Amino acid sequence: MKSSNKKNRGRNKTRKGLIDISIILAPSILAADFGRLAEQVLETENAGAQWLHLDVMDGHFVPNISFGIPVISSLRKHTNMFFDVHLMIEHPEKYIKAFADAGADGITVHIEAEGDTEEQIRLIKSAGCMPAIALNPDTPAEKVMPYINDVDMILCMTVFPGYGGQAYMPEVEEKIRAVRKAARPGLKIEVDGGIYAENIHRPIGAGADVIVAGTAVFNDDITGSVKKLLR
Ligand code: DX5
Ligand code: ZN
Repeated sequence: MKSSNKKNRGRNKTRKGLIDISIILAPSILAADFGRLAEQVLETENAGAQWLHLDVMDGHFVPNISFGIPVISSLRKHTNMFFDVHLMIEHPEKYIKAFADAGADGITVHIEAEGDTEEQIRLIKSAGCMPAIALNPDTPAEKVMPYINDVDMILCMTVFPGYGGQAYMPEVEEKIRAVRKAARPGLKIEVDGGIYAENIHRPIGAGADVIVAGTAVFNDDITGSVKKLLR
């Protein structure tokens, strides 16, 4: 069952005066305390985060297993944040509708994953979700150009996918600039991995407008960490 208010969740939810309204913060729950997940997610929302980044890993596309549908459908009941689902799985086409039905608002598939990217984008759209494509750090921007007008967001990974807490890769900024240059007005560019208050200006300066942060948010001061990133 898909909730009826999918269309307006988190998309324009900004708090003027706190942040530049064009920047979206998407805390990644991979770094959260799963024993207190809803409580911590609500703390990020109350602190001003507009999206929630949900890292789904299958142990095949990446050498780690995280969580799946039950976590997303459980969290869906507790918050109206925009659910930005990052599928780090092989053959995502098999699961797109199930993630949409569980409450995903945006679904990101990796261009490096098995299966047909065009078909995956079509399935995301027909499921009523915002379509996005992710590029690993070593995948050139050229790979995504054939799809750049078919999706609403391009995710330029600033770490190799699979784990939180890795070091930001500044060499990806050149790719962010290239995608921004080729992008139509309004196309979102998301960055994901190793981003903290100290370096958040770098991907933004290169053209990113959706910032994923896990370790930088889910620590002993979630509210303060979110506000520091949104400053
Ligand atoms: C890594 C995930 C990222 C990661 C970010 O595969 O896609 O979202 O959780 O975590 P930090 O911000 O801790 O690098
Ligand atoms: Zn992610």
